[in-house]
Amino acid sequence: MPISERVKKSMEEGSWIRRMFEEGNLLKKQYGEENVFDLSLGNPIMEPPPEFNKELKKLADEPIAGMHRYMENAGYAETRAAVAKQLSVEAGIEFTQDDIIMTCGAAGAINVVLKTLLNREDEVIIFAPYFAEFINYIENHDGVARVLPTDDRFIPRLDVLEDSIGAKTRAVLINYPNNPSGAVYSEDFLHRLGELLSAKSKEIGRQIFLINDEAYSSLVYDGLKCPHIWSHYRQSITVTSHSKDLALPGERIGYIVVHPGISEHKELVDGMIHCNRISGFVNAPALMQRLVTNLQDVTVSIPEYQRKRDLLYDNLTGMGYSIVKPKGAFYLFPESPLENDVDFIKELHKQRVLVVPGSGFGSPGYFRISYCTDDRTIEGALEVFRKVAQKFNLG
Ligand SMILES: Cc1ncc(COP(=O)(O)O)c(C=O)c1O
Repeated sequence: MPISERVKKSMEEGSWIRRMFEEGNLLKKQYGEENVFDLSLGNPIMEPPPEFNKELKKLADEPIAGMHRYMENAGYAETRAAVAKQLSVEAGIEFTQDDIIMTCGAAGAINVVLKTLLNREDEVIIFAPYFAEFINYIENHDGVARVLPTDDRFIPRLDVLEDSIGAKTRAVLINYPNNPSGAVYSEDFLHRLGELLSAKSKEIGRQIFLINDEAYSSLVYDGLKCPHIWSHYRQSITVTSHSKDLALPGERIGYIVVHPGISEHKELVDGMIHCNRISGFVNAPALMQRLVTNLQDVTVSIPEYQRKRDLLYDNLTGMGYSIVKPKGAFYLFPESPLENDVDFIKELHKQRVLVVPGSGFGSPGYFRISYCTDDRTIEGALEVFRKVAQKFNLG
């Protein structure tokens, strides 16, 4: 066998999103792109904000000597300082460039953090529904993913967490605004989570790290501000990127934020910088670091995403679908009208609407709709959702 058993297993279990992508391509070939309504991918169709192109042009017109060379593995000091400055404004606690490591997207950031923290068989707790790649990332670094439930609004169950933390627990990995549910955790929840982890760390005699994936933190609606973890737990490490807020997922630019008050800060940061290097990332893309330095307070249009969310949410609930209204990200996570979510998405596929079954996120009985797409696709899909709702007597 030319590939390792681990890779073979991971490929066989595969990702539902990837499967949808491949199935979607077949349908598009068969019926034409315009006749397939693809709500399966989290690949924003929005273009980056105009400020991005201005920065790009400025750099092309006035290149900086040496701008394509190797650099410090943590990234450019001025980029890290710009990120730290913006976070200090948002979070009300003081960050410096020494708390920031630039990475190849949030995905690169999570892998670097896990590589730095995990010993073989250390447990990382995640909550269903979860971003499916979390399992691969944890296994990449010989960790064990322990999946715990959320409540009926997709908020982690702290009572279950309390009972589940044990000697092997190394970290808890959370994600809000959540992919796939769109849930945003409240300050009160984060406070209770922080208290629980502090108490449990004392009890088990080792620090539990909280890793917070904030890839969607700018995408929150109805005037909400996405709360941050930093004022609630010091042993926290945040991972994020500009894939969603600046619509740059192909450019692979993200960063790690290490809480300034975390214990053994320097050793941890040095470990992560080292892991950025030895994972083969070496450093985050140079050009992108330069570009995002002056774009820390810029985002794509949030009202535009909110409008798309409302278009889908209002129409689908009107048809009888049961959905917890998402407060952020660009996904809806409705209940599947059929008990078996895979059967339900097959029904949609027959009518050329592509979505992902909740099973792909550890939550059977639901399905995920991604609305970072154009209105034509959303409206075409809504027609099919209406037919299917009638067929299953919803509403
Ligand atoms: C929750 C979550 N984390 C991380 C990522 C990866 O982001 P990036 O493209 O910045 O690596 C994604 C991508 O969709 C995501 O949904």
